[in-house]
Amino acid sequence: MMKHPYRIIMRTVLCATVAWSMCSCDDGHVDDPVFENTEDSYNVEITGKFQSLNTWRGTYSVAAACFNDESNYSLIQKVLPSSTEDTVQVLKLSNVPTNAKTVEIAVTNTLRKRIATLYSYPIPYNQRYSDTIKIDVGTLNVGMFGSINQFIFQGTGTNCARCHSAERPTANLDLTAAHAYNSLVNAPAEKDPSKLRVKPGDAEGSFLYKVISEGDENVGYSHVGLFTDDTYAPFLDIIKAWIDGGAKE
Ligand code: HEC
Repeated sequence: MMKHPYRIIMRTVLCATVAWSMCSCDDGHVDDPVFENTEDSYNVEITGKFQSLNTWRGTYSVAAACFNDESNYSLIQKVLPSSTEDTVQVLKLSNVPTNAKTVEIAVTNTLRKRIATLYSYPIPYNQRYSDTIKIDVGTLNVGMFGSINQFIFQGTGTNCARCHSAERPTANLDLTAAHAYNSLVNAPAEKDPSKLRVKPGDAEGSFLYKVISEGDENVGYSHVGLFTDDTYAPFLDIIKAWIDGGAKE
């Protein structure tokens, strides 16, 4: 007597399912194709609006750059093109070495050494080499004052805004992000009213520069030590160049 064909099909399906599930449970050796290396470099595409780029003076530049953990010198970088403020820029970095750990918008010196990070994107550990890394940074203030404000006045290493804020108005000075510019530029110094804190065009005559570069007898806390560290030392120059260049916002 012939078996019902439906039964045969069902039995086949059942056997196949059991065999497949046993096999896949036991098998720990299957390579995940997502992590397969297909190339030996990344391509990166950064989109964003970069404001106040043209306020930079001196030998520093703002660049899209890639870094690894070991060095402050970029593996590869492209200086942002000086262009009109309200145009969205698309920057491309190709042949980025696969040991790159971050894609950054950073202030760099002429030797491609990182002076300050303004934006950082950590490359995911499972990033596929064959795919372009696409990053949208939105609108970023990359100007000279914007960089000083972000890296020094709000920085966690210098802590200016921790001692100088509306809540803790030491020397009646508010260095929080939204107030730093107006608290400094053309504002008379509390501890030496004969001077402005920042006198545009004249760093040597500005109280801010005196306090951070050599100190002042009327200021009961030495700020010079905040800028001796390698990380912050370049900002003595940058702040001087910013003031001498007209202290633009
Ligand atoms: C640990 C607290 C502390 C930190 C951090 C700090 N300051 Fe001060 N700052 C002071 C004190 C205290 C004074 C002097 C107040 C006094 O003598 O009455 C002062 C005074 C000043 C003055 C003089 C203001 C005036 O009008 O007389 C400036 C400028 C200044 N600080 C800038 C900075 C900057 C820039 C930073 C960060 C790089 C900073 N401070 C970090 C405590 C601090």
